[in-house]
Amino acid sequence: MTKVDVLLGLQWGDEGKGKIVDVLTPKYDVIARFQGGPNAGHTLEFNGMKHVLHIIPSGIFHQDKINVIGNGVIVEPCIFRQEIEQLKEKGAQPEKNLYISKKAHLILPSHRMLDAANEQAKGNRKIGSTLKGIGPTYTDKIARSGLRIGDILASDFRERYEILKNQHLQTAHTLNFDLTNFRLDGLTLDEYETRWMEALETLKNFKLINSEYFINHCLEEGKKVLAEGAQAAMLDVDFGTYPFVTSSNCIAAGVCSGLGIAPSKVGRIYGIAKAYCTRVGAGPFPTELFDETGKELCDKGHEYGSTTGRPRRCGWIDMPALRYACMLDGVTDLVITKPDVMNEFDEVKMCTAYEIDGEITDELPFEYNTLEIHPQFRTFPGWKQSIAGCKSFEELPQEMKDYLAVVEQQAGVHISAVSTSPDRKDVLFRD
Ligand code: GDP
Ligand code: IMO
Ligand code: MG
Repeated sequence: MTKVDVLLGLQWGDEGKGKIVDVLTPKYDVIARFQGGPNAGHTLEFNGMKHVLHIIPSGIFHQDKINVIGNGVIVEPCIFRQEIEQLKEKGAQPEKNLYISKKAHLILPSHRMLDAANEQAKGNRKIGSTLKGIGPTYTDKIARSGLRIGDILASDFRERYEILKNQHLQTAHTLNFDLTNFRLDGLTLDEYETRWMEALETLKNFKLINSEYFINHCLEEGKKVLAEGAQAAMLDVDFGTYPFVTSSNCIAAGVCSGLGIAPSKVGRIYGIAKAYCTRVGAGPFPTELFDETGKELCDKGHEYGSTTGRPRRCGWIDMPALRYACMLDGVTDLVITKPDVMNEFDEVKMCTAYEIDGEITDELPFEYNTLEIHPQFRTFPGWKQSIAGCKSFEELPQEMKDYLAVVEQQAGVHISAVSTSPDRKDVLFRD
């Protein structure tokens, strides 16, 4: 019996999870997503090609590996169809190696409309959602009124669809949401609905399975499974900076309910963190930089949302938040990405504690969103050189190794690998 290894984001998303999954895939038989949906944007780069995945797991380009969209994921059929078409253009054959849980919930066009209606109703307290329908779809799942992938095969699907859509229209009405001028990806709700129904046919070409049996049988057979997280600990619905979070459990606990595996079947936990910090959308970000350095991180790190194209807010690494994430996730292997973005910096800073109301603490307070948090910084000399040629962890500049040693000591977790470029070939494993 093998165990499921898990790979998770430890900050506010976009840590480079997709790249690291792609790099680790050769060691596994199955790659499975367990939460989130098209709000995710996971970038892979290899052979001069760049590809962004939203719903489909990042092992998809490895033809001999099975990729699973687990029950905890939510799927928007039009976005799914578009992803499939783009993958095929690049030589992947997803019909052969992608399985989908029948229990994964469907994002309806009207869920996306409600996402926009909710954001509008929040006014200046809006979350900065990706507007992919994430909140409303998970709301319906918990309210027990959602539709699932397996339902598209039922004869009364259209009837159930209409009931749910009408509920959404009523809710939008109570939110004073004006549908007449509303467009989703340039389409009216009716036009979008027609495309959405067509896209269901694409879904039917895939193996729709009870993925909990599939994954557990794989483990019994000794196969190796990697669970790919989306979003990150600080966006987790329970432990993130609520309400500025997503609507799923992005921490390690989510893998059990999102795939149907028992906690005793969880193995290694890879936690991915950038060597600095970014956040896209609204919400607190204590180490955010509003100066030239912040701009430099954004420019050099190409910090623009993979899903929405919005510029990401940038700042120094936040160790109290990272330690919190490592605690919640039980990280066994820390992977640091994008230190190369700071290659030219004279100095690099790290927040090691917060000062709140004159007290120094390294705990994240309940009132994280409202209190004034003053990060306490430790400054390190920059390494001032390219790391492009480094072929092993040992070859990295001493200043960078000194910085990483403190990250490791502060996080309380061993750094197993460092990523040095967007490309698949550039990951330095330590052991
Ligand atoms: P994910 O959502 O966690 O998969 O991350 P994203 O794909 O949204 O964002 C990470 C971005 O950083 C992508 O553009 C990656 O190609 C890029 N990236 C990943 N690792 C590295 C790295 O080590 N160095 C640099 N410079 N870029 C990286
Ligand atoms: P990956 O998997 C970064 C953010 C949104 C918004 C909040 C809620 O690529 O790391 P939602 O659409 O879920 O209702 O948005 O969460 N967000 C992400 N930020 N990376 C992501 O995914 C994100 N998914 C959602 O910007 O602030
Ligand atoms: Mg991303």
